[in-house]
Amino acid sequence: MRFLLALLVVATVSAAAAPIDIPIETNRTALVLRVDADGHLMTVHHGKRLQQAAEYGRLPGITHLNEGYSEYYNSAYTPAGSRSLLEPAVQATHADGNPSIDLVYMRHETKPAGAGVTLTTISLKDPQYPFEVTLNFRAYQNEDVVESWSTIRHSEKKDIRLQKYASANLYLSAHQYYLTHYHGNWASEVRPEETALTAGMKVLDSKLGTRAQMLQSPMFVLSLNQPAQEEQGDVLAGTLAWSGNFQFQFELDPYHNLRVLAGINPYASEYTLEPGRDFTTPALIYTYSDQGTGGASRSLHRWARNHRIPQGKGDRLTLLNNWEATQFNFDESRLVDLFNDGKKLGVDLFLLDDGWFGNTFPRNSDNAGLGDWQENKAKLPHGLGYLVQKAEAAGVKFGIWIEPEMVNPKSELYTKHPDWVIKLPNRPDAVFRNQQVLDLSNPKVQAFVYGVVDNLFTKNPKLAYIKWDCNAVIYNAYSAVNPTSHLYVDYVRGLYQVLERLRAKYPTVPMMLCSGGGARVDYGALKYFTEYWPSDNTSPAERLFIQYNYSMFFPAIASCNHITDWGNFPIKFRTDVAMMGKLGYDIVVNNLSANDLAFSQQALKTYERLKPVIYQGDLFRLQSPYTNDIASVLYVSEKQDKAVLFAYLVNSRFKAGSELPPIRLRGLQPGKRYTVQETNLMPGAKSPINNTLTYSGDFLMTIGLNPVVNDRRTSVVLEISEAL
Ligand code: GLA
Repeated sequence: MRFLLALLVVATVSAAAAPIDIPIETNRTALVLRVDADGHLMTVHHGKRLQQAAEYGRLPGITHLNEGYSEYYNSAYTPAGSRSLLEPAVQATHADGNPSIDLVYMRHETKPAGAGVTLTTISLKDPQYPFEVTLNFRAYQNEDVVESWSTIRHSEKKDIRLQKYASANLYLSAHQYYLTHYHGNWASEVRPEETALTAGMKVLDSKLGTRAQMLQSPMFVLSLNQPAQEEQGDVLAGTLAWSGNFQFQFELDPYHNLRVLAGINPYASEYTLEPGRDFTTPALIYTYSDQGTGGASRSLHRWARNHRIPQGKGDRLTLLNNWEATQFNFDESRLVDLFNDGKKLGVDLFLLDDGWFGNTFPRNSDNAGLGDWQENKAKLPHGLGYLVQKAEAAGVKFGIWIEPEMVNPKSELYTKHPDWVIKLPNRPDAVFRNQQVLDLSNPKVQAFVYGVVDNLFTKNPKLAYIKWDCNAVIYNAYSAVNPTSHLYVDYVRGLYQVLERLRAKYPTVPMMLCSGGGARVDYGALKYFTEYWPSDNTSPAERLFIQYNYSMFFPAIASCNHITDWGNFPIKFRTDVAMMGKLGYDIVVNNLSANDLAFSQQALKTYERLKPVIYQGDLFRLQSPYTNDIASVLYVSEKQDKAVLFAYLVNSRFKAGSELPPIRLRGLQPGKRYTVQETNLMPGAKSPINNTLTYSGDFLMTIGLNPVVNDRRTSVVLEISEAL
C-alpha cells in the first residue's frame, strides 16, 4: 500500500502556474509532456530516457518554435478550429454549433497498473465548454512499449458531433525521417516500402470496414536521421490496436519536426456523442528503440507475449488442416482418414476448414451456405460430435473453421434476416467473395455471432480449436436497424463485444485469427486470439518475406506457418520456413514419399525441442531476404543458453550464397561457450557442420558461422547450445 501511494503522483495546477513536466517513462525511453504557461500541453521530448529525471526541467522545448503562430505545433493533442494551423488530433462541433476546441490542462496522475506497468492519465478541458479529453498512457517498463489512447466526454446540453478523435498525437525531432509502411493485397500481404518524408503530409489509411489491412497495414516504422537499420539507430515502431478503418498521418511542420497522428479513420465516421458518455479510442501501441528495428521488434514481441496475446507465455498446438488438401470436397469417412493421417504425422490437432455446414444451401463452394451453421447432413450425417469422438479415438484433438460475421445471399440466414445484412436499400447488393457482412452494430447480430461459437462449444465441449475467418470487406456501408449509427466504428466495437463475451466464457481455447489470408492481423483482435494467419500464400519462397515483415511487429508464437504444396519446394525447405513460428500442415499426408514422411515425423519431434526458444526467445534478423542471397534469423533464449539459427538460400543464380562471409550471430553471452549442431536434416543426410567444436559467444558474434547454404543445401537449421 505504501508502495502504491509512493508511486501515485497527482498534480493539479492552475493555468497561470509555472510550467510542469509530465514524463511518461519506461526503462529506456521517455515521452516528456509540458504544461506551458497558458496551460496547454506540449511535447518537449520523445526518445531516450534521461538518466536524471530532474533534468527534464532543463529541456528547452522543441527548438525554434518561437513565432506566434507556431505555438500549437508540438501540442500533445492538437485541437481543431481555434488557433492551430496544422492537422488536428480532435475535431468536434459543440451542442451549440460552435466548431472549435481549446484544451487546457486540469490534472494528471501516474499510478501503478500491474507489475512493471504504469498508467498516466492527463485531463484536459475546454475553458468555454464542459468538454474534456483524457490522454492515457500505459507504459510497460521492461518492454519499453507504450499504449496511448484518449477518452472524450462532455456534459453539454445536447449531443456533440465528433469529426476526428485520434488515439495519439506524437511529435519527433530529427534531421530526417524515413517512414517504412506496409501494403499489399490478397496473397501478397505486408510489403514494406521506405520513403524519406518531405514537407507536408503523408497519409496511410484503410476503409475496408471489417479489417484494418489488405491494401494498407496498420503499422509503421519511423527511422530518425537515416534509413532504418536492423541493429542500430533510433526508430519508433507503431501499430494501431483496431481491426477496422485506420488513419496514420505524418506531417512535417515548417520547423522540420514530425507530427504523427494515429487513430480510427475519420472517413464516414462522424460520431454523435451524448452528454455523459465516454468515447474511448483504440490504443496506438508503440516502442522507441535506439537499437534499430531489431530492438523495436524484440520489445514489441516481449510486450505481446507478456501482456497482450492470450497465453503468450504458453504453448501452441501443431495441426493438420484440410483446406489445401480437400477444399470443399470431403465427407465423414475422408475426414476420419485425415485424422489418422494427422496421427501418423504426429500433430496435436486436426483442423476442419470451410465446407462443413449448410443444408438448404449446402456449402459446397464459396457461393452458398454461409450463415447456416448446422452440419451439412450429406457430408456429415453423424454431426460434429461424431467427428470430435473419432478424432479423439485416432489420437488427435479436433478444431473447426467458422466465419460467423458473414452471410451468403444464398442462405437461410439471409432469407430470414435481410435486415441483419450491411447493404443500401436503394442499390444492388454488392458481394465480396460471394458474401456480405452482418451488421455487428446490431445487438441481435452480436447475440447471433456469439451464439454460433457458444453453441459449437456447448454441443461439443471437447472442441479444441477455432479458426475464425473474415473474408469480406464492407461495401455499401449502411445499417438498416440504426441508419444513423457510426457503422464503421460500431462494427468493430460490436465484434470486440462478442469476442470479450466469448473469452470470458472460454478463456483458454486456442483461436486463430484469419481474414482471407492475413487481412486482419492487428493487436486489437490479438487481445482475443492466440495466433494469426499471415497469408493464404504459403509458398515458402514468399513466406520468407511475408513472415519477415510481420516479425517486425508480431511474435513468432502467434504466426501460423503451414507446410503446403504451394510452390513445389522440397519438404525440408518448406518445413524449415514453417518452423520459424507456429508450425502446421495443410497437405495430403498420403502423397508424401516414405522419405518425406519420415523426415516430417522426425521434424515434429525436433520442433518440440526447438519451440520453447522459437516461441519465447528474442528474435534477431541476421540477414534480410531483401538484400542477401542467404536470409537468416536467430532466436535466442532469455537465459542465452540456447539459440536456433535458420538460414535460407533466396537467390537461385549460379553459386549464389556459396562464396559469402560467415553469418554473425547476435544476442549470445560473449563469455559463454556454445556447441553448434545441425538439425532437421533429411533422413540419412550428413551435415558438413562440425558438432564437436565449441565456440565462445564472442567468436560467434564477432566472426560468425558458415551454415554452408548452397543450391544443394537450400535451407539449414542450427541448434546452438551452451556447452556444459
Ligand atoms: C480463406 C482463408 C483460407 C480458408 C478459406 C476457406 O481464404 O484464408 O485459409 O480458410 O478462407 O474458405
